[in-house]
Amino acid sequence: MTRRELLALALGCIPLRAQPAERPEYLSLADARHVLESFAGELPTGLDRAPDTASWLKWETARDQEIRSRLKRGDADSIVNLVLFGTSFTTRPRLTAKQTETAEDDSEAAGRLILARIQDFARAVFNPGRNERLQFAGAWLKEYGIDPSDPAADKRIVVVLLENIRRVLGEQRAYNRAIDAAKQAGDSGSLFVARSSLYRDRGLSLDTSFRPNYAIERSLAEIKSAGLLRQIRRAAVIGPGLDFTDKRSGYDFYPIQTLQPFALVDSLRRLRLTEAFGPTVEIVDLSARVRDHVRDALAQARKGSAYTVQVPLDQDTRWLPETTGYWRRFGSEIGTSAQALSPPPGVEVRTRAVRIGPDVVKLLRGADLNVVLQHLPLAEDRKLDLMIATNVMVYYEPFEQALALQNIAGMLRPGGMLLSNNALPEVKGVPMRPVGGTSVAYSEDPDDGDHVLWYKRA
Ligand SMILES: C[S@@+](CC[C@H](N)C(=O)[O-])C[C@H]1O[C@@H](n2cnc3c(N)ncnc32)[C@H](O)[C@@H]1O
Repeated sequence: MTRRELLALALGCIPLRAQPAERPEYLSLADARHVLESFAGELPTGLDRAPDTASWLKWETARDQEIRSRLKRGDADSIVNLVLFGTSFTTRPRLTAKQTETAEDDSEAAGRLILARIQDFARAVFNPGRNERLQFAGAWLKEYGIDPSDPAADKRIVVVLLENIRRVLGEQRAYNRAIDAAKQAGDSGSLFVARSSLYRDRGLSLDTSFRPNYAIERSLAEIKSAGLLRQIRRAAVIGPGLDFTDKRSGYDFYPIQTLQPFALVDSLRRLRLTEAFGPTVEIVDLSARVRDHVRDALAQARKGSAYTVQVPLDQDTRWLPETTGYWRRFGSEIGTSAQALSPPPGVEVRTRAVRIGPDVVKLLRGADLNVVLQHLPLAEDRKLDLMIATNVMVYYEPFEQALALQNIAGMLRPGGMLLSNNALPEVKGVPMRPVGGTSVAYSEDPDDGDHVLWYKRA
């Protein structure tokens, strides 16, 4: 153990390695009681109003499997994004947001571009080389019974991709219509509530970018000013996600990466909300891809290797200066500037890279946990000061969100806080209450921002 680690240990900043990791537990019927009572009239089909312990556990395990099975559709959505926006397998332009909105309305140019991209993709996936995204796509195609290394497979690849692209674009338009309808019908509060469960039926996607981390940093600064949090020794990120390829601020010219756990340590240190070596960060995610990624980063860190993140800033977005300021300072408290990878010609993006030292990576630890149904049974002295969940709760209906809040309450110390950019239901008996919020605009686009709510554990 290094001198730094010994000191951190003495300060209580890192857990003893020998300490066994807690195993996730399902929410007990007793702890779910208030949520079941509050949602008595609108429980999901298959769940009794007054279940006994056995039937409750049976429902939870079945629901757990159903939720986890949504990851497959999320994988398909990631591959659709790669086909539409990736640049590692084609020199054709990325689709624009406008083109994805009009493609089904017979925009010929968009249709031709999509088809050409699919054909380039089918050729590339035949021989993926060391491209990890194409390797992932190859494994995904095999699950459809298509062997991408078979030269005769290209027609089937085109069909599968077209089907999925149609589905994703159709879903996207339905979400846009739902938002427009909510805008017409109500005030900004009810729009926020409508947005907060928008993806309740969607595949569980892993997408991430630097944006929500800026909203979290702003929220933490305000929470500190309000005197609600002083020192964070133990934190958790629920669903940090992976930056795979996205139409907004996500690209495939750099290795797949995670950002949020590092962004959180960076912000807490910048705001002097944690000691010099802290905090520990529990990574709570039901995705094996996320957990494996963190596990590999940890294994590398134990061998002394750093973790380098690339932080892209789209050039076609009219960013507000505060967002650009955050982009520029991202990582300054946890690493050193590194040589950024160059985007391919024609890709309008500025890049920065940050080399994060192994001491910071070793603050992370991962748990396989479905926060809707499970929690870590932490001893009182190991309970968390802070949990963050951005773009996670939006995948659930209010009943499931309320169960998640109960699980979160069980992992937080009294006075600990959850930050979420979704509105979550208040349930009598669940000891989590909203105590404030922070609105952050990212760019001049009035729809491009986040509202982060602060929930306090009573
Ligand atoms: C869209 S990503 C959001 C990533 C990041 N938080 C952000 O805001 O950019 C959703 C993440 O939440 C995870 N997730 C979804 N449902 C979850 C659940 N019930 N329990 C734990 N993790 C979940 C996914 O696996 C993924 O890592």
